[in-house]
Amino acid sequence: MKAFLLLAAIGLCSAQYNPNTKSGTTSIVHLFEWRWADIALECERYLAPNGFGGVQISPPNENIVITNPWRPWWERYQPISYNLCTRSGYYDEFKDMVTRCNNVGVHIYVDAVVNHMCGSGAGFGNSSTCGSYFNAETRDFPAVPYSAWDFNDGKCKTGSGEIENYHDVTQVRDCRLVSLLDLALEKDYVRSKVAEYMNELIDIGVAGFRIDASKHMWPGDMMAFLDKLKNLTTPWFSTGSRPFIYQEVIDLGGESIKSSDYFGNGRVTEFKYGAKLGTVIRKWNGEKMAYLKNWGEGWGFMPSDRALVFVDNHDTQRGHGAGGASILTFWDSRLYKMALGFMLAHPYGFTRVMSSYRWPRYFENGKDINDWVGPPSSEDGSTKPVTINPDSTCGNDWVCEHRWRQIKNMVIFRNVADGQPFSNWWDNDSNQVAFGRGNRGFIIFNNDDWSLNVNLQTGLPAGIYCDVISGQKEGDHCTGIQVQVVGDGTANFQISNQAEDPFIAIHVDATL
Ligand SMILES: *[C@@H]1O[C@H](CO)[C@@H](O)[C@H](O)[C@H]1NC(C)=O
Ligand SMILES: *[C@@H]1O[C@H](CO)[C@@H](O)[C@H](O)[C@H]1NC(C)=O
Ligand SMILES: *[C@@H]1O[C@H](CO)[C@@H](O)[C@H](O)[C@H]1NC(C)=O
Repeated sequence: MKAFLLLAAIGLCSAQYNPNTKSGTTSIVHLFEWRWADIALECERYLAPNGFGGVQISPPNENIVITNPWRPWWERYQPISYNLCTRSGYYDEFKDMVTRCNNVGVHIYVDAVVNHMCGSGAGFGNSSTCGSYFNAETRDFPAVPYSAWDFNDGKCKTGSGEIENYHDVTQVRDCRLVSLLDLALEKDYVRSKVAEYMNELIDIGVAGFRIDASKHMWPGDMMAFLDKLKNLTTPWFSTGSRPFIYQEVIDLGGESIKSSDYFGNGRVTEFKYGAKLGTVIRKWNGEKMAYLKNWGEGWGFMPSDRALVFVDNHDTQRGHGAGGASILTFWDSRLYKMALGFMLAHPYGFTRVMSSYRWPRYFENGKDINDWVGPPSSEDGSTKPVTINPDSTCGNDWVCEHRWRQIKNMVIFRNVADGQPFSNWWDNDSNQVAFGRGNRGFIIFNNDDWSLNVNLQTGLPAGIYCDVISGQKEGDHCTGIQVQVVGDGTANFQISNQAEDPFIAIHVDATL
């Protein structure tokens, strides 16, 4: 019993649920596959001025180079070493990015791939992003170094050495996930190497970690390496701050491994969120927005203070991971903006916005045969820079959803409404819904096939508000719809079902 209490106490110390974002900022953006040099610029020129709290970056450690298919995005999920050396940049550029982003109050969250190394069939040689030698056959990764002793080949009990049955917890955690060489995280040596890598990143100034493939690690093994992590660096972070941890656990229900198994280590990605929200906004399976009244725990999601939420991520937007066809992405931009609007207005969870690149999506028998295509790149495989057009959109096939006016303005809405209760819900029993955030913000959607014209209590002080969806406040005028809230807090809203964006959002920082 005493030992248990002691362990529980240690667990509480190491658990980190606080995103460590600068006060007043409430969301992060995943700049998928961006180069470090471009992220540094984006922090300074766009993210800081628009209230983004942080950036999730692609894995920064050396990975295998795959040429068949040609340089897929998933090669970065096959580590060769923990040297900071990828298509996004090298050590110096990484350090420069972290410094410059921190200096403008935008923090960096690293995608940590520590469950495994490269695929078991990867052969041997120097085909890695910095030329480090490896031998997948003999399990030799001298640049870490790891050797055959550091993998779970002896521990896994399936015939193939692969995960064969997702209902068998031991297999899921001790065997190879899609052939990836599974690290023996029960060994203190392996835990120490992982912690050494993460501590190097903490020393440089990162604020936390997304932990890839957490479902495939024992929560106790994870806690063991997380307990070895340093506090965050001062003065960017206050003394005693722990790294923010969010764990990739795909739990749509119905499997033996549950998100809740991981709450002791930090937050967990809530994959039900995007799958369900997509279904509702697409109006599939008889779903309607009126049902969103008890969105969050009421839908069987994990507790809000444990959830990292998103409409889509780099896996689900191309049919990997979970959620299937219901997931909304930039390809369905009108519905996607509504989903992002709903997510960012709603108090549930800690929010992450996706920022993608375009790829030649092509479905054959319901599967995108180009789901592997990597970032925009030159013939030599180097990632193309993110160029910025005069109208502030991005070039070179970078989608930059986070720069879409509607999404950027909802990131600001969430900051303005931070700490305010979910209030003044209204629905028409169909797909017209509205809700407020105390006396700071209000949002209304018309996802029905007919127009909306309604007077509602907003909870807001009287005034003329500028809708931040159809336009925004620029100087002292509004480029979009104006909404008048009268003395009793009510306002009239009209939204055509044909509107480019059939929703309106107003908040107290955008009044005339
Ligand atoms: C390949 O790896 C070996 C062993 O680490 C090293 O000696 C050699 O220089 C590397 N070759 C290249 C081309 O990087
Ligand atoms: C982190 O900071 C706290 C509070 O200052 C301190 O008690 C703890 O020992 C620190 N942990 C590490 C690993 O440095
Ligand atoms: C939904 O809203 C429209 C207009 O606000 C209204 O005419 C309709 O009766 C409402 N209810 C349903 C169930 O459609």
